[in-house]
Amino acid sequence: MSLESKIKVLEEKHQKAELGGGLARIDKQHKAGRKTARERINDLLDPGTFVEIDKFVTHTSTEFGMQEKKILGDGVVTGYGKIDGRLMYVFAQDFTVFGGSLSRANANKITKIMDLAMKMGAPVIGLNDSGGARIQEGVQSLAGYADIFYRNVRSSGVIPQISAVLGPCAGGAVYSPAITDFILMVKESSYMFVTGPDVIKTVTHEEVTKEELGGAMTHNKKSGVAHFTAENDEQAMMMIRELMGFLPLNNMEDPPRKPGTDDPNRTHPKLDNIVPSDPNKPYDMKEIILTVVDNGHFLEVQPHYAQNIIVGFARIDGRSVGIVANQPKVLAGVLDIASSIKAARFVRFCDAFNIPLITFEDVPGFLPGTTQEFGGIIKHGAKLLYAFAEATVPKITVITRKAYGGAYDVMSSKHIGTDVNYAYPTAEIAVMGPEGAVNIIFKNLDPEARKAKVQEYRDNFASPFKAAEVGYIDEIIYPRNTRKKLIEALEMTANKSESNPPKKHGNIPL
Ligand code: HXC
Repeated sequence: MSLESKIKVLEEKHQKAELGGGLARIDKQHKAGRKTARERINDLLDPGTFVEIDKFVTHTSTEFGMQEKKILGDGVVTGYGKIDGRLMYVFAQDFTVFGGSLSRANANKITKIMDLAMKMGAPVIGLNDSGGARIQEGVQSLAGYADIFYRNVRSSGVIPQISAVLGPCAGGAVYSPAITDFILMVKESSYMFVTGPDVIKTVTHEEVTKEELGGAMTHNKKSGVAHFTAENDEQAMMMIRELMGFLPLNNMEDPPRKPGTDDPNRTHPKLDNIVPSDPNKPYDMKEIILTVVDNGHFLEVQPHYAQNIIVGFARIDGRSVGIVANQPKVLAGVLDIASSIKAARFVRFCDAFNIPLITFEDVPGFLPGTTQEFGGIIKHGAKLLYAFAEATVPKITVITRKAYGGAYDVMSSKHIGTDVNYAYPTAEIAVMGPEGAVNIIFKNLDPEARKAKVQEYRDNFASPFKAAEVGYIDEIIYPRNTRKKLIEALEMTANKSESNPPKKHGNIPL
């Protein structure tokens, strides 16, 4: 065979591989409002940077006539490329080939890039769109899943792992995304569940649609399984690009610092009046966040779930930071089971990847009630305490108003290793609110005397001054200077070097 003919064969193979399951199935994918694996990768990576690996791999199955049905690539496109010039590994399940189902060969392709990503210290982005285990392959497919799960766990905290769910993701297949750091879902075209509507109907007699059971809004709003929602595949890829911009490539690197594009000396007189004088009046903590971060750009994580706490990424003077903030506008910013878990996982992610933590605090305490107690608020609240205490990244806290009770300790207080603790003059740092305190320590007072005691308690304890007198608050700041103060603290802590005692691993209350 001449070189020319050999090249022709190669070209034909490339063309065949790139067609996946064929034009009719590509058309079906498009009609369902979804893009193909290769189109998604094109949207995700910098133009022209994708390098495909294992393009000609086929399955080795012979059951059910499968030897007659081989498609180059076998239902997953794998390789590496760049986002903003930085190396990323990618796998994209190709629904046009056997429904993107996971075969042994297909799993080998995915684990190959996961291994490379660990060796090179670069993130893995998985684009999931699959009918699950390749039914014709039985245990080979299950083994393939377990090989992926094993690597997901070993990579956790070493390289960022991101999952986009862009179609079906059912059965045990959900557990790979679940172990990764962030899950993004597309509205009305993706779903995740352990058992589908038919099985549920048989077992529990419940009737539920796929969308209700495991659609994007279910997991972003109700279950807290997912972190981001996109309107369509293209937007999903843009959101992953935005997210990656805040993250380092691995746990040995610092997150990328972008050249400052916003004035570090900006002051904001409007912040002086943001906290209402009536302690029971809500305000929007997001206003403070958006005012102080660079260019008002805040990538909120889980914006629809446990809205009494806000978590997300921003830049301050070009430095990537993780923000955790109580939201007085929702449930008065109380800590409950869902918000504790949401924030704890975010804090641990930031700590694993060297992203400084900034906490804005206005918290009346933990939510009382049997639902919370029976649900285990003790162990779930402890997760947040554990996560903040264990974190060795720079930690900076700003108390804007209430810092009551155990929640004061938990929300990145000085006592659990926080480096810089600021308070606004409006801060109230106390065991509990003045009314509750007076009800307990002074019973049977007439209304006038009670009012006086409440005022006395407020003057004495519901202020930042007692805490500042003993050094638990480093500085009471003018709200207008919050941005400048945060920049100052980030500069001071930039070379922080602290580590926890050597151990196999801690035992976070799961
Ligand atoms: C092999 C599969 C497949 C699978 C789909 N296909 N799922 N092939 N193994 N798991 C093939 C179909 O035969 C079809 O081939 C093509 O993919 C598209 O599928 P359709 O059914 O035509 O598409 P659609 O109507 O959109 O339905 C998509 C679907 C459905 C809802 C995902 O295909 C489905 O229910 N599949 C089975 C899901 C499942 O039960 N998987 C096992 C889960 S258990 P042709 O040639 O016609 O195009 C599991 C265990 C993991 O995954 C355990 C890990 C620990």
